[in-house]
Amino acid sequence: MGKRFFIKTFGCQMNVNDSEKIAGILASAGYEKTESLEDADVVVVNTCSVRAKPDNKAYSFIGELKRLKKQRPDVTVVVTGCVPQKDWKFITERYSHVDIVLGTFNFYKVLDFIRSGKRPVVEVLETYSEKEMDVLPLIEPVLTNPHVASVTVQRGCNRFCTYCIVPFVRGRERSVPPDRVVDEVKRLAERGVKEIHLLGQNVDFYRYGNVRLPDLLYMVSQVEGIERVRFMTSHPAGFDLSIIKAIAGIPEVCEYVHLPPQSGSNRILKKMNRGYTREEYIEKVLMLKEEVPDVALSGDFIVGFPGETVDDFEQTLSLVEECVFDQAFVFEYSPRPMTEAFLLEDNVPAEEKNRRLTELNNLLKKQAKERNALLVGSMQEILIEGLSPSNDKKMIGRTRNNKIVLIDRDDSLEGKLVNVEITEASSFFMKGRVIKQMAGVEKW
Ligand code: SAH
Ligand code: SF4
Ligand code: F3S
Repeated sequence: MGKRFFIKTFGCQMNVNDSEKIAGILASAGYEKTESLEDADVVVVNTCSVRAKPDNKAYSFIGELKRLKKQRPDVTVVVTGCVPQKDWKFITERYSHVDIVLGTFNFYKVLDFIRSGKRPVVEVLETYSEKEMDVLPLIEPVLTNPHVASVTVQRGCNRFCTYCIVPFVRGRERSVPPDRVVDEVKRLAERGVKEIHLLGQNVDFYRYGNVRLPDLLYMVSQVEGIERVRFMTSHPAGFDLSIIKAIAGIPEVCEYVHLPPQSGSNRILKKMNRGYTREEYIEKVLMLKEEVPDVALSGDFIVGFPGETVDDFEQTLSLVEECVFDQAFVFEYSPRPMTEAFLLEDNVPAEEKNRRLTELNNLLKKQAKERNALLVGSMQEILIEGLSPSNDKKMIGRTRNNKIVLIDRDDSLEGKLVNVEITEASSFFMKGRVIKQMAGVEKW
C-alpha cells in the first residue's frame, strides 16, 4: 500500500491554500490523502497564530499527536505555518515527537525534508528581510472544492497594525508576478474550476510593476472558463474607486467586498495604526454601494482593544448602523507577542469583552437577516459547490455576493451555474428553488 498523509489546517484562507499546495506536493510524489489520522504515514499541522485561540488549538492538536507517535514511531510529524515562525525553538524543545518544523516561507520544501530522513529537522526563515522572497515553485494544489479555488497573489504585510502578528509571521508584503497568477488560474480553469478567489493580506495594495489589483482582476477574468472572480482581504486605506470600478465594470468580478473596519472609533483606529478614519471608511462604503447597488459588504471587528471605552464601542455600533453589513466576524482582542499593543495593558475585562462581542454580533446578525430577507422572491445566480455538509438531501451554492443558498439535491447540477428563486432567508443562509439551468458561459 502506498504512503498516506493527513493535513490539519488552522487559520485563514491563505493557510488553507498553502495546505492545498502541501497536499499537491505530497500527492505528486505518490502519497495519498487520508481523512483518518490513524492511517497516516505523514501528519502535517499547518498552524495559525493570529489570536490566542487558534494558537492554543494548534498546540493541543500537536500535543495529541504524541500518543500516535508513541504507537507508531515511523509516522512523520510536520509542523508548519505561522506558529513556528514565532516559536520554533519552543516547539523543538517541548515536543520531541515533532520531526520536521518549517515556516511560512518554505513549507513547500516538505517533501525534500521528509525524504532526507534527517530527524528532527528545523528550518524556519526569519521574516525581517526586506529583500524579495523567493517565488514558490509552481504546484498543482489538491483542491478542497473542485469548482472554487484560491490563488495567493500577495504574501506578507507591511502595515503593522498594533494588534497584529501577521507582519511578524508572514514577513514583508510581496506580490506574485501577474503572468504567474494568470498561469495558475489557467491551470485551475483547465481542471474545471469556475470561481477564483485572489488572496492577499491586503490585496488592494497588490502591485507588480505597473500592474495593480484592477488590472489583475481584468487579466484573471479573461481566462477561458472562469465565470467568477473574488478578491480578499481589502484594506480600507487601499480600497479605492479604481477597485470599485473594476467590480462594477468587469462582469466576472463578483459583487462582494470583505473590508474590515476593526473599529468605528477614531481614537481606537489611531491606536490600532489602521491608517484611516471612521469617516473615510464610511465614505468608501457609501461610494461602493452607490456604484455597485447589489454589493454585499463583509467585515471584521475587534472588541476590547486596550483602552476601548463604552463610548468607543458605541462608535463601532453606530458605524455598523451606517454601513449595514451582509456578513461579519467579531473577535475579542487577544494580545499577541511581538506586536506593539502587547506592551499595552489588556484592560477591558473578559466579561465586558464578551458583552461587547455579543451585542455587536446581535446587531450584525439582525442586519444579515434583513439584507438576506430583501432577496426573498428575487432570482439569483448560484454556483453549486456540492452537497450540504449537514444534510445530504440538499446541495449548497453561493450567490455572486457570497451568500449561501440551499437547494434540493440534484447531482447533475454539481459545479454548474444555476438560476434560483430565493424562497427563504435567515442570517446565515437562504433557501432557493431552481428556475433554469444556465448553459456554458451564458449570463443572465
Ligand atoms: N489582513 C487582513 C486580515 C488579518 S487577520 C486585514 O488587515 O484585515 C484577520 C482578522 O483577525 C483581522 O481582520 C482582525 O479582525 C482579527 N485579528 C487580528 N489580530 C487580532 C488580535 N490580536 N486580536 C483579535 N483579533 C485579531
Ligand atoms: Fe494584520 Fe493589519 Fe496587516 Fe491586516 S493590515 S494583516 S490586520 S497588520
Ligand atoms: Fe493566521 Fe497566519 Fe493567516 S496568523 S490568519 S494563518 S496569516
